Amino acid sequence: MAPRRTAPEGSMPPPSRATTPPAMDDIDETPFFDNVDELQQQGINMQDILKLKSAAINTVSGVVMTTRRQLLKIKGMSEAKVEKIKEAAQKITGSSFATGIEVQDRRRRVLVISTGSKSVDSILGGGLMSQSITEVYGEYRTGKTQLAHTLCVLSQLPQELGGAAGKVAYIDTEGTFRPDRIRAIADRFGVDGSTALENILYARAFNSEHQMELINECSIRFAEDKDFRIMIVDSIMALFRVDYSGRGELSERQQKVRVLSRSGYDER
Ligand SMILES: Nc1ncnc2c1ncn2[C@@H]1O[C@H](COP(=O)(O)OP(=O)(O)OP(=O)(O)O)[C@@H](O)[C@H]1O
Ligand SMILES: [Mg+2]
Repeated sequence: MAPRRTAPEGSMPPPSRATTPPAMDDIDETPFFDNVDELQQQGINMQDILKLKSAAINTVSGVVMTTRRQLLKIKGMSEAKVEKIKEAAQKITGSSFATGIEVQDRRRRVLVISTGSKSVDSILGGGLMSQSITEVYGEYRTGKTQLAHTLCVLSQLPQELGGAAGKVAYIDTEGTFRPDRIRAIADRFGVDGSTALENILYARAFNSEHQMELINECSIRFAEDKDFRIMIVDSIMALFRVDYSGRGELSERQQKVRVLSRSGYDER
């Protein structure tokens, strides 16, 4: 198994405080997501905000990161509306520039989540980093799904025990999620099994389009419920391999997967 990590540089707003599981005292309470509803304060009406949401743009940063061309493709959007929305979003987010010190401060807020294995943690420089995408790949039965289950529990632990004190979203494309395994891992780490399962939001994806929709739905939930710390997709590619076959469809497939991995950065 070989983990690969890509971290978004300079795009790390502070995470918010978790209520259940236990709160982290050294992290301030600035919201993790700048909910797109904030555009109302800049004179954008709710109908237009709903249009953005229908296109899975759930944060103000999401508006900034979407091109005018893409925004125009949303049903009911005119050039004038897009311009007004862009201006409003830029007013809220302010300058995109930050000093090196500010970037350093933001990086301090990256949480390190233990994988449950000291040797894997040491390879990763402590564990998995929040606010970034970690891709785990390897041959079948090498433990990718087991690692995903372990992370479901570990990310709920307090920070001092290697966790991120937060909830987990789990998108399962292969039907391999097992609540009993979560209970067993929870036992191992001294966590109540039912509480661990309560803190996991699970969905089964049935095709690649459904998978995209579920990830979009997650972005809404993450924007509303600040306790989420990690989203697991097991596996990210399986359904795309089924739905796009042969060389002819390869470029379309790769384009979709690129959008998918970019959304990991967009929702910060
Ligand atoms: N409770 C357990 N304790 C220890 N090992 C287990 C437990 N449950 C399953 N395993 C083993 O862990 C190994 C890894 O399985 P896992 O399903 O995580 O692999 P995977 O990398 O996800 O495979 P695939 O590519 O087929 O999805 C398997 O050999 C499985 O039998
Ligand atoms: Mg698996």
